[in-house]
Amino acid sequence: QGGSTVSITVVGASGDLAKKKIFPALFALYYEDCLPEHFTVFGYARSKMSDEELRNMISLTLTCRIDQRENCSDKMEQFLKRCFYQSGQYNSEEGFSELDRKLKEKEAGKVPNRLFYLSIPPNIFVDVVRSASRTASSQDGWTRFIVEKPFGRDSESSGELTRNLKKYLAEEQIFRIDHYLGKELVENLSVLRFSNLVFEPLWSRNYIRNVQLIFSEDFGTEGRGGYFDNYGIIRDIMQNHLLQILALFAMETPVSLDAEDIRNEKVKVLRSMRQLRLEDVVVGQYKGHSKGGKTYPAYVDDPTVPSGSITPTFAAAALFIDNARWDGVPFLMKAGKALHTRRAEIRVQFRRVPGNLYGRRSRSVGGGGTTATRELEKATNELVLRVQPDEAIYLKINSKVPGLGMRLDSSDLNLLYSERYPAEIPDAYERLLLDAIEGERRLFIRSDELDAAWAIFTPVLADLEANKVAPELYPYGSRGPVGAHYLAANHNVRWGDIS
Ligand code: BG6
Repeated sequence: QGGSTVSITVVGASGDLAKKKIFPALFALYYEDCLPEHFTVFGYARSKMSDEELRNMISLTLTCRIDQRENCSDKMEQFLKRCFYQSGQYNSEEGFSELDRKLKEKEAGKVPNRLFYLSIPPNIFVDVVRSASRTASSQDGWTRFIVEKPFGRDSESSGELTRNLKKYLAEEQIFRIDHYLGKELVENLSVLRFSNLVFEPLWSRNYIRNVQLIFSEDFGTEGRGGYFDNYGIIRDIMQNHLLQILALFAMETPVSLDAEDIRNEKVKVLRSMRQLRLEDVVVGQYKGHSKGGKTYPAYVDDPTVPSGSITPTFAAAALFIDNARWDGVPFLMKAGKALHTRRAEIRVQFRRVPGNLYGRRSRSVGGGGTTATRELEKATNELVLRVQPDEAIYLKINSKVPGLGMRLDSSDLNLLYSERYPAEIPDAYERLLLDAIEGERRLFIRSDELDAAWAIFTPVLADLEANKVAPELYPYGSRGPVGAHYLAANHNVRWGDIS
C-alpha cells in the first residue's frame, strides 16, 4: 500500500456542465496519463442512479482527439471502471457521510486527497460546502473545492458568498474557476508579452491607442434563459471572462510565475480601474428575425425568460485604468449573444507613426503615390489574438506592394495555430482540472480579485436596474446595436472586428 490517491467528486453529476465539460475533460486527462496513478471519480446528485447508469450517461459524452483514436474504446472502458455514483440531497450530511464511507473504501490505506467540483446552481453552493466539508473532508490529505461562477450578482452578494464559504473552507481550498483563463491563447498572452523583446517595450500608453476585448456568440440563450435572465451579459461575460483577460493583459511584470505573484499583479490592475459609468455602457437585446426562409427567435421568446424582460444580451463598455502605464487608454469591451459570428479576440491598436513620411502627397513615386496617401492615413499597426475559433496571433503591418511604384498595403504577419501546431488544443477545463489536482492556483480567482472585479461593475449594474434602462434591440444574427459604434467613437476608437 502507501502513496496517495485523489478522489474527484462531481457534485451535480447529471447537469449540463458535468456532462459536456467535466467528465470529458477528466477522461482526456486520463487518456494523456495526466491523472495520478490512483484516482477515482464520483458523481453526486439527487437522482437515484447506479454506478452502471452513471457510466452509461458519461460514456455518451466522452470523445477522443483525432490523433488519439487508437485504443480509444479500451481507454474509455478503463476510465469508466473508475467512475462511481452516490445519490443524496445537496444539504444532507447523511448523503455526504455515505459518500465519505465509499471514498474511504476506494482510498484503502493511501493518503486521501479529495477534490469536489461544484457543478450546481449558486443558491446551493454553501449547503454543499457545509455538508461536504463537515462529513467528507480528507483527514490526512488535502480537500479542495472548485466553484463556478456566478459568484454573486454584485459586490454585496459576492462578499456574502465568500464569507459563507470561508466559514467552512480556507481560501487555499477554494478554486474559483474562470474557464477563459484555461484557454490556450489567454495562457499565451503573458508569454507573448514577457518573452518577446519586440512587444513589452510597446505595452503602454506611449504606443498603444486602445485595447479591445471582444466576445460574440452566434446563438442565443437557448434554454438557459432562466439562469441568464437573472444575470445578463455584463455579469455573464464581462465582469469575469473579459475582465480577467484585461487584467492579464495590463498587469505589471510579476515577480515570478508563482500564483500569488501573478494574482497580486492582477489585483493591482483591477484596483486601479475606474468604476464603470452609465454613459460608458451600451446595452442591447436580440429580437426575432427572419432570413433565408428561417426564423430566429427573440430573447424574450425563450420560454424560460419572463416576458418583457430588459436583461441585456449584448453590452459594450469603455473602461479605464488610472495608473501610469495606461492613463487615458480606453479598454473597450464588447460581448453579445445571437450575433453574426462566434468569436473571442483581443485587439490592440497602436498609435500612428509620427512624422507620417509615407503620407506626404508631394513625394508620390510612380503612379501609385496618391492612392498610397489615402490608404496610409488609416493603416496603423494592430495586434490581434484570436482566442477562438481558429486560434491565431497576427500583426497588421504596412508593407510595400511589390512593383515599381510606391504603394503600401496593410498585410498580416500571421501565426495560425492550426498550421503551426497541428495537434488539437486541449479544452480549457482539462488544464484547469489538472491545475486544481496539482494545487496550482495561478489560473483561479482569489477572493480579493473577485472583490475588485465587482467593485468596477456593481455601481453601473445598479444604475441600469434602477433606471430600467431599455436595451437597444438588434436582430438575431446581426452585428449588434449601432450604439456600440457611437460609444467607441466617443473615445476615438473604431472597432477592429468590423471588416
Ligand atoms: C460561460 C457563459 O461562462 O461561457 C456562457 O455563462 C457562454 O453564457 C460561455 O456561452 C462561453 O464559453 P466558451 O468557452 O464556449 O466560449
